[in-house]
Amino acid sequence: MFNNQYKLIGQAPIEQKGFLVWFTGLSGSGKTTIANNLEKVLKNHNFITCRLDGDVLRQSLNKDLGFTKKDREENIRRVKEVSKILVDTNVITLASFISPYERDRQLVQEYMNGQFAEVYVNCPLLICEKRKSDIYMKARQGIIKEFTGISSPYEEPKNPDLIIKSDEENITQSVDRVIKYLIGKKVIF
Ligand code: ADX
Repeated sequence: MFNNQYKLIGQAPIEQKGFLVWFTGLSGSGKTTIANNLEKVLKNHNFITCRLDGDVLRQSLNKDLGFTKKDREENIRRVKEVSKILVDTNVITLASFISPYERDRQLVQEYMNGQFAEVYVNCPLLICEKRKSDIYMKARQGIIKEFTGISSPYEEPKNPDLIIKSDEENITQSVDRVIKYLIGKKVIF
């Protein structure tokens, strides 16, 4: 009954499958920067994307959560649910969360029915500390408690789909590798 009452010229639908690219790594490893730049490339090619970022979501949906193991678990669980809705709506979702626990990441992977890639942004702690010196200094001084890599663990991915050594390659090379991976998986074409 609503079919013909609006004269809208919508964006031409593109055939796109949903997919979740999950960036994990220490704070300051470059997850957000890579996801941001990757999104620009995808958007320039008319793919429909959504970015979910730890720092951002912790200001809104996950505002009530801290950094205990339990809270991080809940953080990732909520992001998993949001990601699932997006992926099922055919959105290419780029999530950047420290997500330090293997089990939590595993649960996300299992939930996505294969429409998932884990990208480990691997960067030495010392370099992360240089990049984000203010926050790491506070962590070292104990002003910020349970800080990943300093006073809280980071479990390295055992079997990531892609490893990006962000201290050894530049942002263009990193984005390029993710793009090539996604092409290989026929997520983008
Ligand atoms: S996660 O461990 O639960 O996945 P998430 O990615 O959402 O973490 O948030 C990490 C961001 O929160 C960091 O980039 C940093 O800016 C900030 N942060 C504040 N306190 C901590 C802490 N104790 N450990 C890690 N990151 C923290």
